[in-house]
Amino acid sequence: MEEAAPPNDFAKALFAPLAPTYDRYASLLSFGQDPRWRRFLVSRIDAGEGDRILDVATGTGAVAIELARHTGAHVVGLDQSSQMLAVAHARAARAGLGGRIELVEGRAESLPFADGSFSALSFTYLLRYVVDPAATMCELARVVSPGGVVASLEFAVPTRPLPRLAWELYVRAGLPVAGALLSPGWGEVGRFLGPSIRGFYSRGGLERTLDCWLRAGIGELCYRRLSLGGGVVIWGRRR
Ligand SMILES: C[S@@+](CC[C@H](N)C(=O)[O-])C[C@H]1O[C@@H](n2cnc3c(N)ncnc32)[C@H](O)[C@@H]1O
Repeated sequence: MEEAAPPNDFAKALFAPLAPTYDRYASLLSFGQDPRWRRFLVSRIDAGEGDRILDVATGTGAVAIELARHTGAHVVGLDQSSQMLAVAHARAARAGLGGRIELVEGRAESLPFADGSFSALSFTYLLRYVVDPAATMCELARVVSPGGVVASLEFAVPTRPLPRLAWELYVRAGLPVAGALLSPGWGEVGRFLGPSIRGFYSRGGLERTLDCWLRAGIGELCYRRLSLGGGVVIWGRRR
């Protein structure tokens, strides 16, 4: 029997061919909600000029750019995909923020940074792609200085019956068909996302994720469900 690829390798292969079209189509397939969710995530981070913020799984740099604009801080964007980072480089330069956004190839599970070297940290759509979310949360918390904000954005499964029904219809039928119409790579994403999100929350729900944050030493936890529960932003402070 063929062994399944480790989640990291799977994510790398999944996103590499999508890099050039990621921003346009991710926004389209989320009905324009994705950029709104990122803006809310960034609004949770209270950093300013002179601070250093780490954005993990930065992809094409959407959150890193928003952070640099909103806070005036120096932002480091880390991702395991060189293809996604190449698009991030071009976007940051176009936005005139190349000097304040540094891009680093690496993995969330073993960050190439010293303990407490960032004033704040964000990550987006990451924990579904790692083998051990609890260990990854500890690694993320390690590089944040005490009192620094950690904030994340992730898809979620709506809890109320009608939004849940609409969500199931979309991820079972709408998303796979719409993705396949765009390209084979987006077709794969369209088929993958529903089971991936459902599977992540079936293993303990949001409570398990919040527990990982607490065990990693992040307190004062808050979260907000967005767009009828299709997205969730979590934030807290490094103890
Ligand atoms: C759905 S994209 C999200 C990109 C970006 N954060 C955004 O808001 O659009 C997920 C990104 O996570 C990256 N990724 C997945 N697992 C990773 C890991 N373990 N370490 C670093 N990056 C990872 C992928 O390469 C991909 O660029």
